[in-house]
Amino acid sequence: MSSTLKDVTYNRSEAVHDTGWWRQAVVYQIYPRSFADSNGDGIGDLRGIISRIPYLAALGVDAIWLSPFYPSALADGGYDVDDYRDVDAKLGTLDDFDDMAAILHAHGIKLIVDIVPNHTSNRHVWFQEALAAPAGSPARERYIFRDGTGPDGAQPPSDWHSSFGGPAWTRVADGQWYLHLFAPEQPDLNWDNPEVRADFIKTIRFWADRGADGFRVDVAHGLAKDLREPLPAWRTLDEELLLRGAHPFTDRDEVHDIYAEWRRVFDEYDPPRSSVAEAWVHPSRRSRYASATSLGQVFNFDLVELTWNPVSYRRVIVDSLADAAAAGSSNTWVLSNHDVVRHASRYGLLSEAASHEGRVVSRQWVQSGGTTPAYDSELGLRRARAASLLMLALPGSAYLYQGEELGLPEVPNIPDEHRQDPTFFRNSGVDKGRDGCRVPIPWTGDGPSFGFGTGTAHLPQPEWFAAHSVQAQEADPESTLLLYRRGLRWRRRLQTTEELPWLDAGSPSVLHFARKGGWQCITNFGPEPVPLPAGTVMISSAPLVDGALPSDTTAWILATAERSADSMR
Ligand code: GLC
Ligand code: CA
Repeated sequence: MSSTLKDVTYNRSEAVHDTGWWRQAVVYQIYPRSFADSNGDGIGDLRGIISRIPYLAALGVDAIWLSPFYPSALADGGYDVDDYRDVDAKLGTLDDFDDMAAILHAHGIKLIVDIVPNHTSNRHVWFQEALAAPAGSPARERYIFRDGTGPDGAQPPSDWHSSFGGPAWTRVADGQWYLHLFAPEQPDLNWDNPEVRADFIKTIRFWADRGADGFRVDVAHGLAKDLREPLPAWRTLDEELLLRGAHPFTDRDEVHDIYAEWRRVFDEYDPPRSSVAEAWVHPSRRSRYASATSLGQVFNFDLVELTWNPVSYRRVIVDSLADAAAAGSSNTWVLSNHDVVRHASRYGLLSEAASHEGRVVSRQWVQSGGTTPAYDSELGLRRARAASLLMLALPGSAYLYQGEELGLPEVPNIPDEHRQDPTFFRNSGVDKGRDGCRVPIPWTGDGPSFGFGTGTAHLPQPEWFAAHSVQAQEADPESTLLLYRRGLRWRRRLQTTEELPWLDAGSPSVLHFARKGGWQCITNFGPEPVPLPAGTVMISSAPLVDGALPSDTTAWILATAERSADSMR
């Protein structure tokens, strides 16, 4: 090792007042209940996260995003919030939160919290009040209550479906119905009600004042609704409505008025608080959420949909960068999160599916218990490593999901009696749900829960988790964990402006692009090795073969001759 990365000092504190810190940040998503358990009750908690902050710092991430840690009965993994301004007692206290924020900041790591504004839980004090109050009362006006249709109003107000399966309306004791686009335990809020708006401003300030640097906004496309009667039939809710922003409950233009108000609050802070929208909307309308007067950044899930295919990858990269630039934002890259099958598994599925059906096929595989289509775990990991290194070289921010730095595969065959996800309970014949990517991650090769805690984990971990543990990977120079660590260090060192000129790769199965300052990234999607461009190889996702880039491999090249580099491989 000649010029070493060791002498690069990361002066992260410089970024304290950097208003654009989020533009090219690496954000690590923590699903708190499955990250680290400090007290052996089988549930991950804030003290557990605190104990792993040195790990996060060594990994080299810029920020963490915490999925909900609020009081919740876990009807939807914590996305059913009982109280937006507290910590679930099983996960810790507000003091623990303050400690966590302080220690993260001392390590130069920013903190993003998840805001769930579309729906509360059914245990939220407001919903309890609404149930106790009569039809037409102010308490019911915070939600969406309607009389039913048909004789005695025994039929729901419309035939709409909930996202987890089953009807989107549930009847209460006095005969009225309430709307829930997700589980019945997640009643939708009425965002036409000024009280609802004011309360979320209070929540945003609450966390921003406690040190949150940014917010991830759950179901950001859902808040604004047009529920004037007659409610349209489900079959009429088509893409044409979505494209016009005229759908009754998805991606209406007025939703941005809500975020403009939030933006004014974010901008009162120094640096301004950032936010990123989770908006499952038509790609042509996505960038509205990324505008500077709306949430500023939006998740782009296009890579999650794809199989391992160079043509589609290139198209998504080109289109996404153009869209983000047009909105004045930076793009977000996502390969995995708590809602989708882990990419180490998606890329191991031996299927002839169309290139945009990667996510769909992976759900079918989980539904089959991990048997159909056939699965090659080595191929999956090899491609996942190549994809991750490619993603990390792109301009914009990269969102990593806990465990992906271990190349952790999905657990596709959790026994039904252990499943927790409402998708499974409301839809078991069709979808087994998302628990397979939420299994607590392995820190050590043994122990009752592979170092997750001293007790048994709340979702069962398979024996094969041992080989993927942090402990095993720290001892292996070829491990995925060390690949991510090296990749993130190089990325920090090489980070540059957001342009991406494509280079001629000489083959449609090779993607090759440059970043300013001599950084190049080349990925070989094809079966045969290809020659590497001139320059020093800084890092590669698999060993080179006779100096060439083998199949399913990404390498980063430093093209300027005078800058020496570690040849890691
Ligand atoms: C988002 C979350 C998902 C949750 C849903 C309902 O899509 O990512 O986990 O189930 O919203 O809150
Ligand atoms: Ca615990």
